[in-house]
Amino acid sequence: MVLFTAFALAGLVAIGLASVTIRKTGRAPTGYEVDFRYVNATAKRVLVGGGIQPLTDQFHATGTSYRFNGRYDPWKYQPGDFYVSNPSPQLPAEPAYKWPYEMKSSGDGVWTYTAPLPSGIYSFAYLVNCNYAPNCSIDTGQLVIDPDLPPFMNVHGDQVASSFQVPFDANFQASPELNTNFDYALDAPAGHRGTVKTVNYTSPGSIHPAQDVHDFSIYLPAEYGSVPGKKYPLLYLSHGAGGNGADWENLGRMSHIMDNLIRLGHIPPTVVVTPSFYNLDSEGPFFIYGNKSLSVPVPPAPHVRGNFQKYLFPWVESHYDVCQNASCRAFAGLSMGGVLSYEMFVNATDMFDYYGMFSPATNPPYIDAASVAANPALLKKGTMVAYGLYDFVFPQARDLQTAFDAVGIRYINRVSPFGSHYWNTWQDALWWFGIKVLWKPLPFGVQTGRQRAASV
Ligand SMILES: *[C@@H]1O[C@H](CO)[C@@H](O)[C@H](O)[C@H]1NC(C)=O
Ligand SMILES: *[C@@H]1O[C@H](CO)[C@@H](O)[C@H](O)[C@H]1NC(C)=O
Ligand SMILES: *[C@@H]1O[C@H](CO)[C@@H](O)[C@H](O)[C@H]1NC(C)=O
Ligand SMILES: *[C@@H]1O[C@H](CO)[C@@H](O)[C@H](O)[C@H]1NC(C)=O
Ligand SMILES: *[C@@H]1O[C@H](CO)[C@@H](O)[C@H](O)[C@H]1NC(C)=O
Ligand SMILES: *[C@@H]1O[C@H](CO)[C@@H](O)[C@H](O)[C@H]1NC(C)=O
Repeated sequence: MVLFTAFALAGLVAIGLASVTIRKTGRAPTGYEVDFRYVNATAKRVLVGGGIQPLTDQFHATGTSYRFNGRYDPWKYQPGDFYVSNPSPQLPAEPAYKWPYEMKSSGDGVWTYTAPLPSGIYSFAYLVNCNYAPNCSIDTGQLVIDPDLPPFMNVHGDQVASSFQVPFDANFQASPELNTNFDYALDAPAGHRGTVKTVNYTSPGSIHPAQDVHDFSIYLPAEYGSVPGKKYPLLYLSHGAGGNGADWENLGRMSHIMDNLIRLGHIPPTVVVTPSFYNLDSEGPFFIYGNKSLSVPVPPAPHVRGNFQKYLFPWVESHYDVCQNASCRAFAGLSMGGVLSYEMFVNATDMFDYYGMFSPATNPPYIDAASVAANPALLKKGTMVAYGLYDFVFPQARDLQTAFDAVGIRYINRVSPFGSHYWNTWQDALWWFGIKVLWKPLPFGVQTGRQRAASV
C-alpha cells in the first residue's frame, strides 16, 4: 500500500505497516520524502531497483552520451532536475551516482531506505542478495515484488514492479528552467474517478493467459453506465516491446490521466482499452515479464493488426458501450506500440480517425507519395508524433515526421523536454494527446490544438 501521510492522520501508526510511505515534509530538497520498508530476516543485502533513477538536468543530460551525463543522488536534487532512464546500468558507476539504492538494516530483518523524490511516476522492486542488478530476476529468486504494494496485473508474473506517483510541491520544485509538474497523473478528486480492470477475451490461437484466451485492461470513465444508451469514444493504447496491456496502468497511471483529462473538460468521457500484443498465437515467441527476456522478438505489426481486427476489436465493440465508427475511435501506442499505431494508420486507415505514435520505434521504408495517392484518407486523419528529447528513438521519430512532412501529412508534435524512452515521456504524451489531439475537428491544420490548457 502507498500512504500519503499528508492526507493520512494515522501516519505514525501506518508507518509500521506500509511498504512505501510518501511524506509531505515541507523541506528541501523536494518537499516530499519516500520511505521504503521491507522485511526479510534472511537477506544479507537489499537494493531498491527498477524505475527509481538517478537525477540529471537539461544542462548536463544529452541524448548522445549517457556515459558523461550528470547523474545525481536524490538528496542532491535541485529544481528543474528530472530522471532519464538509465539505458546502460552495466556502465561503471560514476562517483556521484549510486544506483540502484542500498537499503539499510539494523540487523532485525527490517530494511529501510528514504529518498526525497520530485513529482513523477516511479516503479521499483527489491533486489535481494544481488550484486549486479541486470542479472537479478524473478527466475533467480533475487527480484522480490513488494508484497504490500502488488502491481496492477491480470495473471501473477505479468508485472515485476510496483509503482507510486509523487506529488509536485511548487515551494521546492518550481523552476524557471523547466516545468516538471506531473500532478495530472495523481488521483482525481472523488466523483471523477473511473474504473480500471483486466479482462479476458476470446481470441482463438492465443497462448496466454490460457489457450484461446487473451487479455487486455480497460478504463471506464466515471460516467460510464449511468446514461442509458450512451456510447463512448474509444481509445486503444498499446504497450511496447517487453511489456503487456497492464503496463499503461501499472507503470503509467493511465486511469488517473484520463480522469483528469475528462474532469478538466479536455475530452468527453472516453473508454480506453490497453491490449497485449504478445502470445496472440504460437507463431510468435512466448513472452511474459517473469521471464525477463527483452531479447524476445516482437511479433510483426501487420500480424498483430490482423489478429486484433479479427478478434479484439469486434469483442470490445460487442461487450461495451463504445461508439461504432472511425470518428470516435483512436489508436495510440508507445515504442513498438508506436510502430503498431503507424501500422494501423497505414493499413487500418478506415477504422480510426486519430493516431498517437509515442516514442515510435519505426523504421524505413516509410509511406511515400504513391501510398498517399493510393490512400488519400491518410491526409485527413488526426495524428500525433510524441517522443523525448533524450529518447533513444529520437532519430526514428524524426525520420517518421520527415516522411509525413514529405507527403503533406499534418501531425501534432510533442518533444518532452525531460523525456527519455520511459514512462514520464509516455505519461506526458498521453496527457498532451488528450489535450491537443483526441476528438478534435479534422483535418488538422495550424489552428488545431491552439486552445489553452487548464492547469491541473
Ligand atoms: C527473502 O529473501 C530471499 C532471498 O534471499 C527470498 O527468496 C525470499 O522470498 C525473501 N522473503 C520475503 C518475505 O520477501
Ligand atoms: C551477468 O549475466 C551474464 C549472462 O548470464 C554473465 O555473462 C555475466 O558474467 C553476469 N555478470 C555478473 C556481474 O554477474
Ligand atoms: C484470465 O484467465 C487467467 C487464466 O485462466 C486467470 O488466471 C485470470 O484470473 C483471468 N482474469 C480475469 C480478469 O478473469
Ligand atoms: C518462462 O517461460 C518458460 C516457457 O518458455 C516457462 O516454462 C517458464 O515457466 C517461464 N517462467 C516463468 C517465471 O513464468
Ligand atoms: C459515430 O458515432 C458517434 C457516437 O456514437 C455519433 O455521434 C456519430 O454521429 C457517428 N458518426 C457517423 C458518421 O456515423
Ligand atoms: C501495410 O501493408 C502492406 C501490404 O500488406 C505491408 O507491406 C506493410 O508492411 C504494412 N505496413 C506499413 C506500415 O506499411
